[in-house]
Amino acid sequence: MGRLGLSLDLATGEVTNLTEGQPAFAAILASDLSARGVRALLLGRPGADGLSPSRAPEDPSGLELLVPRDAASRARTVLESYDWRYQLGNLGPWRILPLAMYLWDGMSVHLYWGIPAAPLPSVAFVSLERTLWQGASAGSLGFAEPDPEPLAVFLALQASRDRYRREERLRHLSNCLSVASWERAEQIADRCGIGATLRWAAGAARRATVDEESEDGTSAPPPDPTTLKAIWSVGWYLARHAYPRRLRLLISGTPRLGGVVGRCRFAGVEVLVGPGIFVPEMTSERLVKASLDCLAHRRNPILVETGTGCGAIALAIAAGHPSVRVHAVEKFGPPLMWAKRNRRRLGQTRVRLYRGSLLDSLPGDLAGRVAVIVANLPYVPVAVWADQGRLAKVAVRGESDDGLGLYRRLIHQARRFLEPGGRLVLEMGPYQVDAFRADVSSLGYAVERVERPVGGAVVVTARLSA
Ligand SMILES: C[S@@+](CC[C@H](N)C(=O)[O-])C[C@H]1O[C@@H](n2cnc3c(N)ncnc32)[C@H](O)[C@@H]1O
Repeated sequence: MGRLGLSLDLATGEVTNLTEGQPAFAAILASDLSARGVRALLLGRPGADGLSPSRAPEDPSGLELLVPRDAASRARTVLESYDWRYQLGNLGPWRILPLAMYLWDGMSVHLYWGIPAAPLPSVAFVSLERTLWQGASAGSLGFAEPDPEPLAVFLALQASRDRYRREERLRHLSNCLSVASWERAEQIADRCGIGATLRWAAGAARRATVDEESEDGTSAPPPDPTTLKAIWSVGWYLARHAYPRRLRLLISGTPRLGGVVGRCRFAGVEVLVGPGIFVPEMTSERLVKASLDCLAHRRNPILVETGTGCGAIALAIAAGHPSVRVHAVEKFGPPLMWAKRNRRRLGQTRVRLYRGSLLDSLPGDLAGRVAVIVANLPYVPVAVWADQGRLAKVAVRGESDDGLGLYRRLIHQARRFLEPGGRLVLEMGPYQVDAFRADVSSLGYAVERVERPVGGAVVVTARLSA
């Protein structure tokens, strides 16, 4: 792990949060980049009071950095050495975009080696990139900072193309314009062919509201690079109508967690998570720790995980124990495909994968031999997570009114497979523990441990009577 220690320490169970250490983080990153000979331009910065007007106060946890193209791989090497949790972009077809995103819990770095301009290629804005560098001066966090005028043009361009972060971009733009020379900003924008975009964005920033975008995206005018206007229009059309969704995302040039293939570091392993697949969360690392605690000092124990998704928990447990045999089950084909891919990437031969519901597809000869059954099945009550799309429906929303339906079925099936004294290790909401305790007790289990982190899911360990 890098020196930015955060997330869960599996030995102590301690979580270090980076949020409080952002200025320190920025300073470490700036110094590590500079040690590698990488100049970095800060385009968005953590919001600490008293910083220059170019800061984006509403995005206190994000750093947006532009580095020269020929320094991109060195900059990425620096970031790769840190213990980020998720990395997006720069994978598969996303390599065509000049960006990589690194996300921690509560912190992110967006690294650019070109101006994000999708659906246009970033080379369409090389002159803006040059102007951003030209006026740059040393900033307080150790990165270079651009003049407010080219920064305003950059922000207007981003506001016009990325509807997800539009409001935040416009607020940042408004700060920036309060100290910029409007004439100079207009000149730069006109030279880049996006004068109309700047004027549109400045107007929207002044109104401080953006009209909800219509389905075809017409309420926000796209930039108007004179020679490239046709490409831009076609690009925008495709970004909304192309099939499949992955292609639409690629054309719009804005990777989203859960929407594209991302790398996820989880409890000591790194897995890939494809679009539409549940992204492993930090809280679930506690399931790995609790399971490994149950298996400590055992030789060749058998562990079952059901609802394995991309396989993160199963693979992390196999990596954390020298001889455990893991049998992991998943109901749906796409997540199972990613679990297989991750198993292959990690070269893990002690994990077997099955398609099925709960424990249905496990081989009969496992009956009475399983030391631990671990699961993070969908448990959120329908009322809490009503109608949030397909992923939520299959991966998050629990069965029955209180959300515990799948766990109720699991604890019945588990009695056949667990060895005497075998354990269940399950993730659920803190509000579900009492109901769950009543259910398992009536089936001959005793709740041994309830781990309640502050906020978030709990991990319940229950032992079958010997
Ligand atoms: C909350 S996600 C957890 C994924 C993974 N274990 C993790 O923690 O990152 C729940 C997973 O359970 C799977 N699932 C839903 N119903 C299931 C069932 N009846 N049997 C097995 N898996 C199921 C979903 O497809 C999804 O991959």
